[in-house]
Amino acid sequence: MKIFRTKVELQQELSGIRQENKVITLVPTMGALHEGHLSLINYAKPLTDVTVCSIFVNPTQFNDPKDLEKYPRPIENDIALLESVDCDILFMPSVEEMYPENDPEWHIDLGDLDKIWEGEHRPGHFQGVTQIVYKLFNLVKPNQACFGQKDFQQVMVIQRMVDIKKLNIKLLICPIIRSDKGLALSSRNARLSAEGKENALTLIKSLTYIKDHFGKKTIPDLLKAAEEIIASNPAVELEYLSICETKTLAPAMNIDPSKDYVALITAWVEGVRLIDNILLSH
Ligand code: PAF
Repeated sequence: MKIFRTKVELQQELSGIRQENKVITLVPTMGALHEGHLSLINYAKPLTDVTVCSIFVNPTQFNDPKDLEKYPRPIENDIALLESVDCDILFMPSVEEMYPENDPEWHIDLGDLDKIWEGEHRPGHFQGVTQIVYKLFNLVKPNQACFGQKDFQQVMVIQRMVDIKKLNIKLLICPIIRSDKGLALSSRNARLSAEGKENALTLIKSLTYIKDHFGKKTIPDLLKAAEEIIASNPAVELEYLSICETKTLAPAMNIDPSKDYVALITAWVEGVRLIDNILLSH
């Protein structure tokens, strides 16, 4: 795996690759890699000639400077993991490299998409995400880029940015990796006890109920029954549960056959905020 720390070095390498008309896939990350990230690289590999992974803890997407400071940076381990899945190129720039002095202010009009759900909980977060992903897209100019379905709203926000900026980049949405019992993989799960992990399964139970009954019951009835599943476990505190149209993430009132839907959930277990989602077919 080739490792680059500057934009100039990376661009030199990529211009040679582009001249050979090779397909380039970008997998942007903030490091502290786990199985979920590696699944993005494994997803990309058969669909691409060259896989570029970026590791950059992006300051503009953090609401709390303490979280930014505390964010884990196990770089040697990350490099070993990327090598184990045959990643071709790692780009790991400094903050100064990505945000030079006099860097222009960033704002993109995402409508409600960056204000609802996760956006409400983390104001400005998705502006920071789109800012860095736009920079990485302009630099790498990939044919495609991989993002995990786990952060569904993030993918929709990035897709909106790609549409607004008219970028010719295909987003590949990689499936959620789950434990054998169905818990969505997340670095936050490490903060749960064994009992907490069992209780956290209530999230996927409620989402599965919605998926299994989607199109057979009305949306208010689906939500009521799924909320009852959550309420039956006092160890789980629901923050939001919604059935949304995928592109706008606006709550659905009824099912329009021409649209796609997703159920989104955020809940707390043992003081840990967990998010999950499931795509709904009709
Ligand atoms: O999902 C993440 O790890 C980050 O939000 C991303 C997409 C790498 C941008 O910093």
